[in-house]
Amino acid sequence: MDINVVPLSKIPQFRLIGSKYNILSTLSNVIESEKITGKSFFDVFSGSASVGRYFKKAFSIISNDSLYFSYVLQRTLIVLNEYPSFSDLKIVNLSQKPIKRIQEILQYLNDSPGVEGFIFKHYTPASKNIDGVERKYFSEENGKKIDAIRKTIEIWFGKRFIDENEYFYLLSSLLMAVQKVSNISGTYGAFNKVWDPRSRKILTLKFIEVIPSKFEHLAFNKDSFDLIDKINCDIAYIDPPYNSRQYITNYHLLETIARYDSPKIHGKTGIRDYTEKEKSIFCSKVKANHALAKLLSNIRAKYAILSYNSEGILSKEEIFNIFKVSGFEKTRLYEFPYRRFKSNYNSHRSHVEEYIFVGRR
Ligand SMILES: C[S@@+](CC[C@H](N)C(=O)[O-])C[C@H]1O[C@@H](n2cnc3c(N)ncnc32)[C@H](O)[C@@H]1O
Repeated sequence: MDINVVPLSKIPQFRLIGSKYNILSTLSNVIESEKITGKSFFDVFSGSASVGRYFKKAFSIISNDSLYFSYVLQRTLIVLNEYPSFSDLKIVNLSQKPIKRIQEILQYLNDSPGVEGFIFKHYTPASKNIDGVERKYFSEENGKKIDAIRKTIEIWFGKRFIDENEYFYLLSSLLMAVQKVSNISGTYGAFNKVWDPRSRKILTLKFIEVIPSKFEHLAFNKDSFDLIDKINCDIAYIDPPYNSRQYITNYHLLETIARYDSPKIHGKTGIRDYTEKEKSIFCSKVKANHALAKLLSNIRAKYAILSYNSEGILSKEEIFNIFKVSGFEKTRLYEFPYRRFKSNYNSHRSHVEEYIFVGRR
């Protein structure tokens, strides 16, 4: 059986720790060689939404992540099966052809004059006069552009000029454009002292291709434990954080741009306030074992596929044991070398082993 996957060229390379972009074809090889079949595929920790997008022609995807910016991406990259029409948006003379119309809307937003809003004030050098700390995540020009575009999207949605699908489509395009001009070396845990050449480029919204599929797909923005007992699926793909780096702190700025909720921010990096609930239990050395056991025991799936790696909190022996006590049989492990998450200054090869565990009930 050949799985009908979406070509890699149509999967955006979103920079996220633990993104599975580079192992997508390995993942489908594993599913094929294990002769795993079914209709529904539950991606419990969707992150960049790359896995769900890759498999959306083969399965009905149920996708989830506790981060809101991930939910935004899932809505566009996975859930959309056709281009949103933007039929109620009456700006300039928009084309009636769906793709052309979207390109014109993106152009309109790209051309809109900058606004001195939350991002400009707190995440560009302008923050020096406002917060007394100079933050260099974006150039001042790009900070103003982000604010202008983000505000317009919100106004259009508030006035019902655009519906939810259209709203998430535009937000996804903005998040992707933001990543391309961020002055960071990997995550938003810190900004670079010196301007990276990418941050000197002007932020530009780009067209996102919609991948049609005969299946319906769903996206959620929930803690995995609040969802797993409500979803029945054939295949559960489980890709939790594997070390102590919290996503909410490393991607705080994407979360703030997606939410645009003017949060309380702190310190040198302007990190947004977050609650205990927003911290992932899978990042805790003490609690990760119990958390994975609870997840696997309660997941309503015929097959569980777990991604992890050799530098993770849990050892492969511990994981085998967790599969066993959670009611999964004949668990198999696929191991292969993996390039470490690449930041701008760190592209050396390493000997990290990537793991894919497969268990069945
Ligand atoms: C390793 S990443 C997933 C990467 C994803 N497979 C990809 O290719 O982009 C782990 C994800 O788990 C999410 N996460 C962590 N704890 C969670 C929880 N308790 N419930 C839901 N999502 C969680 C994080 O926000 C992060 O996006």
